[in-house]
Amino acid sequence: CGIVGYVGFREASDVVLDGLKRLEYRGYDSAGIAVKVNGHLEVVKKAGKLQVLADSLKEHHLNGQFGVGHTRWATHGAPTDPNAHPHMTEKGEIAVIHNGIIENYLPLKEDLIARGHTFSSETDSEVLAHLIEEKYQGDLVEAVRLALSEAYGAYALVVAHQNHEEIVVARTVSPLVIGLGEGENFVASDVPALLPYTRRVIFLHDGDMAVVRREGVQVTDLAGNPVEREVVTVEWSLEAAEKGGHPHYMLKEIYEQPRVLENTLGGRLYEEEAGVELGLKLEPTHYDKVHIVACGTAYYAAWVGKYLLEALARVPVEIDVASEYRYRDPVVDDKTLAICISQSGETIDTLEAIREAKRKGAGTLGVINAKGSSITREVDDTLYIHAGPEIGVASTKAYIAMLAAMAMLAVWMGRAKGTLDEKTARELLSEMRKLPRLVEEALEQRPRIAHIAEKYHQAQDYLFLGRHIQAPTAYEGALKLKEISYIHAEAYPAGEMKHGPIALIDERLPVVVLATQSPFYEKTVSNIQEVRARGGRVIAVASEDDTKVQKFAQDVIYVPRTHPLLAPVVSVVPLQLLAYETAVHLGRDVDQPRNLAKSVTVE
Ligand code: G6P
Repeated sequence: CGIVGYVGFREASDVVLDGLKRLEYRGYDSAGIAVKVNGHLEVVKKAGKLQVLADSLKEHHLNGQFGVGHTRWATHGAPTDPNAHPHMTEKGEIAVIHNGIIENYLPLKEDLIARGHTFSSETDSEVLAHLIEEKYQGDLVEAVRLALSEAYGAYALVVAHQNHEEIVVARTVSPLVIGLGEGENFVASDVPALLPYTRRVIFLHDGDMAVVRREGVQVTDLAGNPVEREVVTVEWSLEAAEKGGHPHYMLKEIYEQPRVLENTLGGRLYEEEAGVELGLKLEPTHYDKVHIVACGTAYYAAWVGKYLLEALARVPVEIDVASEYRYRDPVVDDKTLAICISQSGETIDTLEAIREAKRKGAGTLGVINAKGSSITREVDDTLYIHAGPEIGVASTKAYIAMLAAMAMLAVWMGRAKGTLDEKTARELLSEMRKLPRLVEEALEQRPRIAHIAEKYHQAQDYLFLGRHIQAPTAYEGALKLKEISYIHAEAYPAGEMKHGPIALIDERLPVVVLATQSPFYEKTVSNIQEVRARGGRVIAVASEDDTKVQKFAQDVIYVPRTHPLLAPVVSVVPLQLLAYETAVHLGRDVDQPRNLAKSVTVE
């Protein structure tokens, strides 16, 4: 979501609206603004496009030089006027904008209601407005600090109070940047919003707070101790700024993955209760089989989902590419749970497949990124993956979010059916909580991967191999490479190689083998030896503590160790980077590969 705040001498509503427009590429479904007019904060917020807000501001001018605004991509609560930011309390003295997720918002909200607060939205963010109001005794910074000692989770928080000409901000996980001017200062969730006004910025770090006033900016930690943050001069063009300084959206999105996982998993894992809270209406125990349909990258997430659901919920799972499912007259009854997975929620094949399942009596569940998309309007229930807008045509962050969502669904179903015991569930949940950090570590392998990509960029073909839950990872790796580098790549379940594709192997063929720790590790190592014996070049993706595989593979990319059922999440990262670096080396159009569309709405 986009955030813009301003304190200075210009009309705040102009600066805020203009900044929000520059963040439009991030996608949103509602927008709002608060400006201090004659000593009082006035708020206008609207569901829909930014233009709806801009139009209503034409009729209802907000004249003032101090204001904050937001464009929202709904997470908790539908895109409606009340759910839009800024949030205020009944007193109307305070305006709060928040990106991220407050994990403990439910208990906080219950306590606040018990103490007499009335809520006007369904968002987790509004809790912060009430909490800060309660703590406020004349010092806004102190009130925000006290509130944040009780609320935890991910946030980029922006707070304004009518009694102070200052914007108090805080960040953990969700990004915030401060823009420095002369007699004016700015805050934003992202650099493009600031570029028309200033190029001198401070990127806040996790755990930072700051007070932004007309005459200056002060950064502290959450305890109030001053911290020094470098003032950076941004040299980026607007286009580069939209990519967060990365040369391509795809790379930006690859690097966003740790944060995306925080959003997907945030507020949904409950280790103590050994379960997940997904807010679904469907009753998992009602179903005795599962069908999953999807296209492209989402189909590989479906395949990973099959292993997860079968392992944890002991339910038979069939997966189909959506365009096949429709025409195979699938055997469906009212005990079938049909799940469709889609980033856009608009893929026509997927939509038609889920319609087919519904017609035949199945319960339907969408695992979807885009809010309010066509599929979400037709299924019985939706689990949003919260990956944020994905712009690169080759899907990366949406895929990783889909995997996390499927893992949560498997825990949800397994716990309800009683096939997943508390202890195992807890172990899995605590491993899931570590995923953002593990993906962060996996990203550190980029220089090594760039080297490998360069070494093999002239290859005509690539082969990708993986077993069990890593078979889909191999397929996704091959798909990424095909999509953006145009190098032909095939994927096979590792054990199937000897039944055909082994004939392809010679010294010109790079073979990527997923060899992370699992009960099938030894078997995969045997496959590596089979490739080596025929002169093939092996690039192994292995767990960080593996000392054996380097004896058999020419190149090894190490990834952090995790639960074998979660290995696809960390292992896909080097494959995304391999595809990316190869495509860049070959001078391909990474973000818009030829012939492909981000979302395909024709059959
Ligand atoms: C298109 C894209 C793929 C994507 C597939 C499914 O073919 O090029 O990258 O995986 O559609 O898209 P969806 O939005 O349904 O996940």
